[in-house]
Amino acid sequence: MLKGRHLIEPGDFQLNEIESIMQLADNIIADPEGYSLVCKGKLLASLFYEPSTRTRFSFEAAMLRLGGEIIGFDDPNNSSVSKGESLGDTIRTIECYSDIAVIRHPREGTARLVSKFANEMPIINAGDGGHEHPTQTLTDLLTIRKFKGGCDNHVVGVCGDLLFGRTIHSLVKTLSRYQGIRFVFISPTELKMPAHILYQLDPQTYKETTSLDEVIGELDILYMSRVQRERFVSEEEYLRLKNYYILDKKKMKGAKPDMIVMHPLPRVNEIATEVDEDPRAVYFAQAKYGMYVRMALIAKLLGVEDKK
Ligand code: CP
Repeated sequence: MLKGRHLIEPGDFQLNEIESIMQLADNIIADPEGYSLVCKGKLLASLFYEPSTRTRFSFEAAMLRLGGEIIGFDDPNNSSVSKGESLGDTIRTIECYSDIAVIRHPREGTARLVSKFANEMPIINAGDGGHEHPTQTLTDLLTIRKFKGGCDNHVVGVCGDLLFGRTIHSLVKTLSRYQGIRFVFISPTELKMPAHILYQLDPQTYKETTSLDEVIGELDILYMSRVQRERFVSEEEYLRLKNYYILDKKKMKGAKPDMIVMHPLPRVNEIATEVDEDPRAVYFAQAKYGMYVRMALIAKLLGVEDKK
């Protein structure tokens, strides 16, 4: 039962609960009209303290497509935060007006913290610093199901900024709960997967490398990621590392014919636009699945999925 629960990190939900969200997303994709009024009379608060395109727009589109409405901000300077109001007071106030809230914040742990102030309103973490991004993980899992038939038994290459990439941290921890997953972590030494994530994995299930070329032929899924400029202390270091990997047509020639390329987006240079026309490039489909899976999540947390 997911009604009334918070989603701060994917580990908050059992695997069967995650699968139930996927199943509902499948049902919504099959019959969007049937779900177009299940959130009528409900309000989603969209609180973005950090820039976003996909997460914010897909959450807002999701609520509107369920028949609900949205309030919120994408610039905290337009709220009383700019007058010094605490996050706790902000959430307690927003709970007076809203049924569910989505929050993105640059500081790790903020979503968990504000969930302590919400008594009845589910809180969804839309990304907290370099920590977690659980709804991107739901998006990624739905994409893998759609293109690879399920989430078990894949070799998953994760490439780029593994140190600061919150989408990667959430995805790796979640995929490791499925059967037969093996990871290939591909990064510059400076941006390796943090020890606290590796510590949670069976050492037999992953290897680390700096070379994408050497391993691309082994992969069923290649998950590319952007070097996270906003998390770097040194601009010089960012500039040195930002173009470390560029996936182009030539590199794709070494990949399996049915490998898929995923990316949470936004991309900068790490995937050349010439790859977009390759049928194995699924990152824009992935962005679309993000809306459907967020529709399913909202419906589950509000307990309205049976109102169809
Ligand atoms: N994937 C993702 O989180 O994108 P946005 O930053 O645009 O929301």
